[in-house]
Amino acid sequence: MRLLNEELLHSNLGVRDGHLTFAGYDTVELCEKYGTPLMLLDEGRIRHRMRLYRDAMAEYFGEGSYPLYASKALSFRGMYTLAAQEGIGTDIVSVGELYIAHGAGFPLEKAFFHGNCKTDADIAYAMDVGIGYFVVDTQDELSAISRISGEKGITQKILLRLSPGIDPHTHKAISTGSVDSKFGTAIETGQALALTRTALATPAVSLEGFHCHIGSQIFELQPFCDAASVMLSFVGEVARETGFCAPVLNLGGGFGVRYTADQPEMDYRENIRLLADFVAVTCTRLGIPQPRILMEPGRSIVADSGMTLYRVGSIKEITGYKNYVAVDGGMTDNPRYALYEAPYTVYLANRMDEAADYPCTLAGRCCESGDILQENITLPRPRRGDTVAVAVTGAYNYSMASNYNRVPRPPIVLLGDVDRLAVRRETPADVAALDEPID
Ligand code: LLP
Repeated sequence: MRLLNEELLHSNLGVRDGHLTFAGYDTVELCEKYGTPLMLLDEGRIRHRMRLYRDAMAEYFGEGSYPLYASKALSFRGMYTLAAQEGIGTDIVSVGELYIAHGAGFPLEKAFFHGNCKTDADIAYAMDVGIGYFVVDTQDELSAISRISGEKGITQKILLRLSPGIDPHTHKAISTGSVDSKFGTAIETGQALALTRTALATPAVSLEGFHCHIGSQIFELQPFCDAASVMLSFVGEVARETGFCAPVLNLGGGFGVRYTADQPEMDYRENIRLLADFVAVTCTRLGIPQPRILMEPGRSIVADSGMTLYRVGSIKEITGYKNYVAVDGGMTDNPRYALYEAPYTVYLANRMDEAADYPCTLAGRCCESGDILQENITLPRPRRGDTVAVAVTGAYNYSMASNYNRVPRPPIVLLGDVDRLAVRRETPADVAALDEPID
């Protein structure tokens, strides 16, 4: 059986001489060059997605509307370089991400600092490096930002993160817009309006608008329109109650990505167009000027630009039960199956022209029964030393990687006109570097 390109999940996958190709590169050769486990990134596809959001948002929402790359999806120096070169903003959620963005020379006036528990030290550091905006989660945080910006003699731009009470159909752990959420201040309870009044009266901050994020891996547009409707109604209410007409509305991230053949592929441009139409009509209906719109795509910028490659270490056939294929990575580089039973597509990258008729479970190398990468898949019957590819691992894989069992993290190789190392492989010495001798 020969797999045709169109049977593969995305257009950046292919088959050449029985080997899986990614972004035009032979994955088996890349494993020989860089070792395994190995994470690959398709630079052209990342840039294409950044431009798609940038251009579609400017065209449909109008000038001043732009995407912020949600860098929690994948944060390393090079990602901020790409975002800066493509002229988009970024969403950061920690001093670690901010430090890396700053080090990469990212223009921080387009950086938005998220998170539901920013410390005084985080706030002070972010102001010192010139963060553009804080996305303020609570009254406590508003008070801290005001105090610290007052001490520094600056006026800090902020958005307020609100919960619109929308429950999208996605995994509970990645749904964030409902009222009972650790994120944001609820509109429904009246607390959002109270926080807005306080922010408007607070010295040393400048309220620029509002933010919501309803969740991740959402394929339907309806929940985004529902959230936009609630948020725009709130903008209208605030305008009537206080006279403040919010110039900015940030609608968060969340567009879905195809991980397996049974999932659809979203047309991001078309969905942005439809959302923009909805926003324009709603603003007219409410009689408010349209705010500049921001969006925060993470997964849909980077997920299908990523792939992880492993080498098969052992095959265990439990008579009457199932077959385990163990590889030299696992939950340390991809915890998403362990956390969410997230589906992935798996290929035997060095034997793509053989029939995939061997049922198995793909297991990692950690001392943990839950260290599974995928269950109930079929591959050509694997042998020790074969190359396994897990597709669509660009988002929330490396960024959620750990050193459990003190396993070093893989390198990231960026595939553009040439292949280049963007993050080097962690060594056991790197992993041990923080340990102090106590003898
Ligand atoms: N903006 C905010 C405020 C967010 O909290 C997130 C994701 C995004 C934007 C980006 O959403 P995206 O476009 O990537 O869907 N670890 C989970 C995903 C957690 C998402 C957290 N917030 C996973 O592996 O599926």
